[in-house]
Formats: sequence, structure tokens, C-alpha cells
Amino acid sequence: VFRSSGLTTLPSILLIGPTGSGKTSLLTLIERGTNAAATHTSQTPIAVECSLPVGAVANSDKYRSDNDPTNQMHKKFLLIDTPGHGKLRHHALENITNPQNLKGLIFLVDAATLSAGDEGLRQTADYLHDVLLLLQKRMTGSKAAKALKVIPVLIAANKMDLFTALPAALVKSSLEAEITKVRTSRSKGLLDSGIGMGDAEDEKDDWLGEMGSANFKFSQMEEFDVAVDVLGGNVVGGEGPTIDKWWKWISDRL
Ligand code: GTP
Ligand code: MG
Repeated sequence: VFRSSGLTTLPSILLIGPTGSGKTSLLTLIERGTNAAATHTSQTPIAVECSLPVGAVANSDKYRSDNDPTNQMHKKFLLIDTPGHGKLRHHALENITNPQNLKGLIFLVDAATLSAGDEGLRQTADYLHDVLLLLQKRMTGSKAAKALKVIPVLIAANKMDLFTALPAALVKSSLEAEITKVRTSRSKGLLDSGIGMGDAEDEKDDWLGEMGSANFKFSQMEEFDVAVDVLGGNVVGGEGPTIDKWWKWISDRL
């Protein structure tokens, strides 16, 4: 049971990404510190209170003296898991347009489904494109959405224990190349339907990243105060979970 004041004011990290990428498995691992029991595809978002592991120092605590009693406590945060199924993504998108003390967004991908031509690559790029476009447009959205000046996005390349998994650098370049295609086909779609006709402003609004650029790069999001990192890990398999790079990313944002 949460104290009434605690839940809404805790800094929160949002977990999103396509179905099967391992979001609920990661949540369970972080919440319990042990490996997840079998998960089912999620139908509703869930939020759980988590703590930074022993030894990790939250960014906001870096300059506290060692004698400060707050240093003895584990920094708490809220982790919000969302369903990845296409029809249930409005839950995740609502958390972006109307966030509660949001400190960062983790977009989890299955790095073993991102090879060229893989249906997983197209679906992942499609979803990521929409999430980034929403973040790009957030400045025209709600007050809460504008509260965070720079929004940190971690593309967490999961399932690195599988030999078919692409390394993080390739996950990054594959997604950039595929998002380039999504971006082109979306803008063509607008033209074909006549929606964008004669309204250059509208077309600009729905174009992800740098206008007129031939290739999409995550670095183009910096102009919109969206900072994207890509880091690898695995939640299960291998010689046990390897999520230390993600932990570091999370603690740097709290
Ligand atoms: P939705 O709720 O449908 O959006 O999916 P999800 O992202 O919550 O995925 P979930 O956590 O349910 O995991 C899907 C499957 O991937 C499960 O069978 C997990 O055991 C498996 N899985 C998760 N992480 C890893 C990993 O690092 N390596 C391997 N090999 N399998 C993993
Ligand atoms: Mg799930």
C-alpha cells in the first residue's frame, strides 16, 4: 500500500516498446531483484515502486555529503510497464502526453528480431517513430508534457544472450535506417490522402527529425530536446541478467 502522497510525486520511468520485447520481465527483475516468473502479454499498464540497488547513486544525490541521512536510503522511483500490443498502445502514449514526474523513457526492443527484412524491425521502427514524433510535438501539448526540458530516451537493446541478437551499435543503425523508411512512407501517405495539401505547416509538424534530411538519425532529435541513447543488455538467459548499463542510465536520471 502506498502512502497517499508518495505515489504521484515519485520520479517515474516509463517502459514502452513492442509486444514480447521483455518489458514485464524487466519490471519483475527490477522490482524483485530476481528473475521473473513466466510473463503473459500485458493488457493494462502497471506501476511499481522500485529502489536503486545498493551502491548506485542517483544523479540528484551526487553532491550530498556522506553524512547526509538521505544518502543512507535507497532512492525510490516508479517504474511504469505498458502493454506493447498495437491495440493497447494508447496507454503508453497517454503516459507520454500527460506524464507524472516523468524522468525518462525506456523503449525496450528485442535485438534478435531486428535484422534487415525482419517483420519485427518494421513493427519496432513504426512504434518508435510514433513515440519520437509525439515527444517532438510535446512542446505544443499539455503543461505536464513540457515540464521536463530535455526528455531522455533509452533504447534498451534486450535479449543480447541470443546469438541472433544484433549488437547495440547495429540496433541503432538498423532502427535509424528503418525509421527513415517509415518517415518517407508516412509523408507520402499524407500527400496521397490530400491531408497535407497546401498546408506546409502541417506537413512539417508530422515530419520526424530534421526537415529535408535524406536519412533519419537519432541525433536529429536533439534539436527537439529529446536525448536518445542505445545500450544493450539481457533480462533472462545467458549467465544471468545483464542490465547494469540500464541501471546506470536510470540512476543518472533520478
Ligand atoms: P507485452 O506485455 O506483450 O507488451 O510484452 P513484454 O514486452 O512485456 O514482454 P515479456 O516481458 O512478457 O517477455 C516476452 C518473452 O521474452 C518472455 O518469454 C520472456 O521470458 C522473454 N525474454 C525477456 N527478456 C529476455 C532476454 O533478455 N533474453 C531472452 N532470451 N528472452 C527474454
Ligand atoms: Mg508485458
